[in-house]
Amino acid sequence: MGETILVTGGAGFIGSNFIRYVLQVEPELSVVNLDALTYAGNLANLADLAHSERYHFVYGRIQDTALVERICRQYNVTGIINFAAESHVDRSIHSAAPFIDTNVVGVLSLLEVVRRLEIPRFVQVSTDEVYGSVSHGFSTEEDPLRPNSPYAASKASADLLVRSYVQTYGVPAIITRASNNYGPYQFPEKLIPLMITNAIEEQPLPVYGDGQNVRDWLFVEDHCDALWQIYRKGRIGEIYNIASGEQRRNIEVVEMILSFLQKPTALIRFVADRPGHDRRYALDTRKIREELGWQPKVSFEQGLQQTIQWYLENRQWWEAVKDQSYRAYYQQQYGILSAEDSNG
Ligand code: NAD
Ligand code: DAU
Repeated sequence: MGETILVTGGAGFIGSNFIRYVLQVEPELSVVNLDALTYAGNLANLADLAHSERYHFVYGRIQDTALVERICRQYNVTGIINFAAESHVDRSIHSAAPFIDTNVVGVLSLLEVVRRLEIPRFVQVSTDEVYGSVSHGFSTEEDPLRPNSPYAASKASADLLVRSYVQTYGVPAIITRASNNYGPYQFPEKLIPLMITNAIEEQPLPVYGDGQNVRDWLFVEDHCDALWQIYRKGRIGEIYNIASGEQRRNIEVVEMILSFLQKPTALIRFVADRPGHDRRYALDTRKIREELGWQPKVSFEQGLQQTIQWYLENRQWWEAVKDQSYRAYYQQQYGILSAEDSNG
């Protein structure tokens, strides 16, 4: 029998892509997915795997240490990859407490299980946002942490906890810090799926501030590949940055989406800026490239086109996700954006 890993938060965007990816590239591997099915968790993301003998779903929270411990014993888990998180910056600005609960207390709970059961591998999926805004140059793994949003602060706190468990208890953990992901199954609160789905529906596209903020866009499958290489070959106690180097200003991304979909730029609305909005993230990725030989395979143009195509073909998926609670969130975040008037 092959080995079994525990993926936490596997019903979300990156986690579900990761589970599909890893089951495909590792024919002997089994995966247990522990997920609390928050607004961002969706079993439809993995509907195609529901009958696979190598995939098991458990409903629950990572903060439930007894449950995590039970799962690890029951399935003889040999490693954990933690995707579970509250992941949206704007929501953290409205209400920070759930971010501390899941992203910090939840990670502590997982670390405790790894320590007690001597699980051989733990990968904490973190983010470039922990470095804060970088006006020029690139953040290396040694750079100081300067988080600017409650979300980023919660992820930075988790990174520090992981570090402390490596130093104090010798827990076999690795931290990964990736840039902005995009691809199929991303919840339409994030820039790219929000803009694609609004553009398809010819609804206004809300761009924060002057639209000149820069992000480095990583196709989700390239991220999954990097994570699996790090899980297999990464060095314990290390941090690995992951990014494609495909830096784009937000307004460029929005204009590309409109152009692919042949929709008018008049749909663009410049709206109030995000408080504490980081101007630019940029990662130095020499470590993962030189040590593990990883490199991204998908260019931003290809990846974006593929993603737009997926949203065009899976309208049912995103229409179901834009439910009543989504509409309440949207209203709180954006107010009423006029479909007629344009300042774009
Ligand atoms: P997501 O919001 O799409 O999914 C999060 C998943 O975690 C959901 O399925 C949710 O139900 C689950 N979850 C939330 N709280 C939980 C809890 N207490 N216990 C168990 N499950 C819980 O997030 P995502 O975009 O897929 O991000 C996954 C991870 O990658 C996060 O840790 C995020 O910080 C990190 N990350 C994301 C990006 C990005 O661009 N999306 C980039 C770098 C790093
Ligand atoms: O960098 C990695 C991070 O990327 C992850 O850790 C986070 O989980 C993920 O949410 C993402 O954070 P960002 O804040 O960079 O992503 P978001 O999609 O929310 O926004 C991307 C950029 O687009 C950012 O500059 C804000 C801007 N934006 C976003 C939304 C939702 C807009 O202009 N309008 C919008 O409506």
